[in-house]
Amino acid sequence: MIIAIDGPAASGKGTLGKRLAAHYGLAHLDTGLLYRAVAYELVQTGKPLTDEAGAVIAARKLDVDQLDDEKLRGAPMGEAASKVAAFPGVRAALVQLQRAFAARPEGAVLDGRDIGTVICPDADVKLFVTASAEERARRRHTELAGRGDPISYDEVLADIRARDDRDINRPASPLRQAGDATLLDTTKMDIDAAFRAAVAIVDAAA
Ligand code: CDP
Repeated sequence: MIIAIDGPAASGKGTLGKRLAAHYGLAHLDTGLLYRAVAYELVQTGKPLTDEAGAVIAARKLDVDQLDDEKLRGAPMGEAASKVAAFPGVRAALVQLQRAFAARPEGAVLDGRDIGTVICPDADVKLFVTASAEERARRRHTELAGRGDPISYDEVLADIRARDDRDINRPASPLRQAGDATLLDTTKMDIDAAFRAAVAIVDAAA
């Protein structure tokens, strides 16, 4: 079974993806980490985030088993990721790697922005997870504060709005709800309620 989860920044799709994968015994790929890793590689090697050729080379070198969560998770890498993610060449370089991950015999859970629309259009279940920008900023701010990041709520909200705007309006694989995806608005749900709702959707579809 392939479960495709898409949605805007900090909608909870990563946490849901992890929990759904554990529940159904499937592997999970947080595809945002791929774009974060490409941005990280550019920054590390002193290249600007506008360097499309450099970003494509970094994307081609990526290894899904070598994604170091910790150094990629902060707010600056999220912002940087959404810049390199707009390059068509970067997206093209990452398609096969994501499809290969999904092609394992038992299936997989992938979360991102274009999983149901571009990467796995034939996924068995598609979820589009969202929440209000304010609620997403509140959650992300709590998460970052817990990691010792001094960023303010207002900065997190501004970052989320800027990224939503960039992700929705880019020509290459913009953030869209697939026509056959089920919308899960978690604004008024805690993570347990969102997980139960997601399991009900998956069980009904599978
Ligand atoms: O965790 P959060 O939702 O904040 O971000 P993420 O999923 O790690 O994604 C970071 C950025 O990568 C997004 O803002 C997108 O621009 C980009 N991305 C994408 O374009 N396509 C994906 N499948 C996943 C992420």
